Amino acid sequence: MEIVDFAALAPGRHSDAAGILRDALAHVPSAYNAPGEAEAEVALRCAEDGWLGHAALEGERLVGWIGAIRTYSHGWEIHPLVVAPDCQRRGIGSALMAALEARARSEGVLALFLGSDDDYGGTTLFGRDLWPDVVGHVATTETTSRGHPFTFYRRQGYQIVGLLPDVNGAGRPDIMLAKRLTPSRFSA
Ligand SMILES: CC(C)(COP(=O)(O)OP(=O)(O)OC[C@H]1O[C@@H](n2cnc3c(N)ncnc32)[C@H](O)[C@@H]1OP(=O)(O)O)[C@@H](O)C(=O)NCCC(=O)NCCS
Repeated sequence: MEIVDFAALAPGRHSDAAGILRDALAHVPSAYNAPGEAEAEVALRCAEDGWLGHAALEGERLVGWIGAIRTYSHGWEIHPLVVAPDCQRRGIGSALMAALEARARSEGVLALFLGSDDDYGGTTLFGRDLWPDVVGHVATTETTSRGHPFTFYRRQGYQIVGLLPDVNGAGRPDIMLAKRLTPSRFSA
């Protein structure tokens, strides 16, 4: 497997990236299921000044990609991260994450963050009224048998830093995750 800068991909490969986005998130009701929606998302990100990305290639085949938005001076938002369904659990997501983290560190980024929706029942947060003690639910959050990328991100060192209740409909929260990249700033 080879990790390359997304910007180095031939524009013809962008439809492959859109296909992975659609297929990897097919189980998520709010994500890129309408015709042309995934293609529009890829075009939008490629045209966005503050966006950067990496792609994973196996031979000639694009098998996954990761992006980030330079949202803050020292904090980037990961968006998106997708691996082709038939290539998952082979370390591709981890390799993409490592490439992005290395790039972020090299540019002085202190934290990476993302929102990971649960609008299908992948975690114990789904279907619940999380108000009024929203952050009180953080410590007990687990994935269900339906699975959720939270498991992957936790393994990568990310922690839940917030919950956005009901933002995908009642009982369908967005889970905010973040990882500290450079702890030395506060070291003695
Ligand atoms: C989340 C995703 C990017 C992970 O990519 P991947 O290539 O499958 O991940 P890796 O093979 O590097 O997994 C590393 C570890 O994360 C954990 N993990 C990854 N996917 C998991 C799953 N579906 N269930 C449980 N644990 C999982 C495991 O601990 C795994 O190690 P192991 O296989 O040795 O047990 C991929 O599953 C994906 O594209 N999912 C659909 C799209 C998505 O939800 N993207 C994130 C949106 S916020």
